[in-house]
Formats: sequence, structure tokens, C-alpha cells
Amino acid sequence: MTDRLKGKVAIVTGAGSRGPGVGNGKAAAILFAREGASVFCVDLNAERAQETVSLIEAEAGVASAFVADVTNAEDCVRMARAAVERYRRIDILQNNVGIPSRQALGQVTAEEWDAVMAANVRSVTLATQAATPLMAEGGAVINLSSIAAVRAYPSTSLAYSTSKAAIIGLTVALAGQLGGRGIRVNCIAPGQIYTPLVADRLTPELRQARATAGILKAEGTAWDVAWASVFLASDEARWITGQTLFVDAGLSIALPGEAGPLAPGAFSSTS
Ligand SMILES: NC(=O)c1ccc[n+]([C@@H]2O[C@H](COP(=O)([O-])OP(=O)(O)OC[C@H]3O[C@@H](n4cnc5c(N)ncnc54)[C@H](O)[C@@H]3O)[C@@H](O)[C@H]2O)c1
Repeated sequence: MTDRLKGKVAIVTGAGSRGPGVGNGKAAAILFAREGASVFCVDLNAERAQETVSLIEAEAGVASAFVADVTNAEDCVRMARAAVERYRRIDILQNNVGIPSRQALGQVTAEEWDAVMAANVRSVTLATQAATPLMAEGGAVINLSSIAAVRAYPSTSLAYSTSKAAIIGLTVALAGQLGGRGIRVNCIAPGQIYTPLVADRLTPELRQARATAGILKAEGTAWDVAWASVFLASDEARWITGQTLFVDAGLSIALPGEAGPLAPGAFSSTS
């Protein structure tokens, strides 16, 4: 621990993980706490949020759990007020909530489309709208996009990809609107990392294909994403706003062929 976030208060939405293991929200909450922040762990699911809090407290970190649906405006207002009541300030908002969607053009329904946009895009707007008026100057908002925003999945994930591309645009728009108050807004686009979000539908072969799809030929984890969050949340990134950082072993900049990012199966699952 190097106290890079000492004295700061962080809200992490979707701070639990949907299954055993460590997802992006859980990893960010844990690293924020290790770096000295007090972490407000928000999740629809109380047990998942509490599990992350327990892990942080077991390391003598400071955290509390809060149940909210961040697709709902009133819940977002409750969340932001409760964070300030508990810890007196807000410095960091990590908009981590996102749900997968595997339907391609031929299958996607209006209901699925709206549900994905609500969970992945509306949630970011509502949480940021509620939290940033209470945020201290020098605050940081971090949004979660995906490699799916800029690389096509030929047979799946139409709404998911669209929602994650929207997050990149939303990040730019929010950076423009909040920069005057000294609040930075940035985005992380993870590549095909291995987390509980994808674990249950990956065969060993598909997992291996994803793991070696990037130039670095190494599997990524939620910790890789969370370290990028620590940097963007910290004052080390004080001159960076409106940016999207790809944490993807070079997958987004590789040409097909020699580097092998388009190996069969590499793109056939939502990430
Ligand atoms: N795993 C990958 O390969 C990968 C790749 C790129 C991007 N991402 C992005 O990472 C983010 C999620 O990461 P994770 O690993 O923490 O996922 P996760 O599904 O394990 O955990 C997310 C948590 O969010 C909660 N949640 C869902 N909807 C909610 C809502 N409306 N309000 C409050 N909480 C809600 C869930 O209960 C869950 O505990 C998503 O935005 C996802 O798109 C993941």
C-alpha cells in the first residue's frame, strides 16, 4: 500500500461480483481501499456488496455496503447522499455497473435493447448526475467501456457493443461539462479479461483463445483493470480527462494475422 488515494472517498457501483472470484467492481473497491480510500460499495445485491466490504475490512480497510439500483434516479440520489453522510465527501465515482447481452441483429428485442442501455449507459448518467454536485474539486469519475466498443463480434452482442461505444462518447461529454468544476471524467476499456462475468460460459479452449488474443499473449484479470482505475482516480492523473484507456494486452491495436487477435473463437463471447 502506498496511500495513493489517502483521505479520499470512493463510490464504486456494482462493487460485488456475480460469481466466485474477482470482477472489475470488486477489484477496484479493494485496490481503492488498499490505497487509502474509504469505499462506498454499491450493488443491487446486498450480499455481493457485503462480501466486498468484508474482504476490505479483513485487510483493515474502510468500506461500507449500500444497496441501490443505479438505473433508477432516486436510488442514485439516495446513494450519493448516503455516501456523504457516511464519509463526509465524495472524491471518486467508479461507474462499473454493466450487464452483458449476447443477442445479434437477428435476435435483439426492443426490451433487451432498452434493458442494456439502461444498465450500461443510463446508469452512468444518473449516478454521475447525483454524485458530482456533491463531489470535491479534484474529483474523478471513471466509466467502464469495453473492447466491444471498437471491435465487432460478428455473431453476438449488438446492444452490448453499442452501449459500450456510448460510454466513450458519454465520457467525453461529461468531461466537457464537469471540467470547469475541476472534476475529471475518464474511461477504461478492458479487453477480454477473465472474470466471473464471462467465466461460466467459457470452455477451456475459448478461455485460452481469449487469453492469447492480445499482443502480449497473457490473460488479463480484473486486477489489471483496477490498477488503471487507481491511476485515473489518483492525483497522478490530474491533467487527464475525457480519455479512454484500453487495458487489453494490445488487442485493440493489433492487426489480424501475425499477432493473431482474430484467432477463431477469440471474439465469440461477450466481454
Ligand atoms: N469481464 C470482462 O471481460 C469485461 C470486459 C470489458 C468490460 N467489462 C465491464 O466491466 C463491468 C463489470 O464488471 P464486473 O466484473 O464487476 O461484473 P459483475 O457482473 O461480476 O459485477 C457487477 C455487479 O453489478 C451489480 N449490478 C448489476 N446491475 C446493477 C444495477 N442496476 N445497480 C447496481 N448494481 C448492479 C451486480 O449485482 C454485480 O454484483 C461492466 O461494465 C462490464 O461491461 C467486463
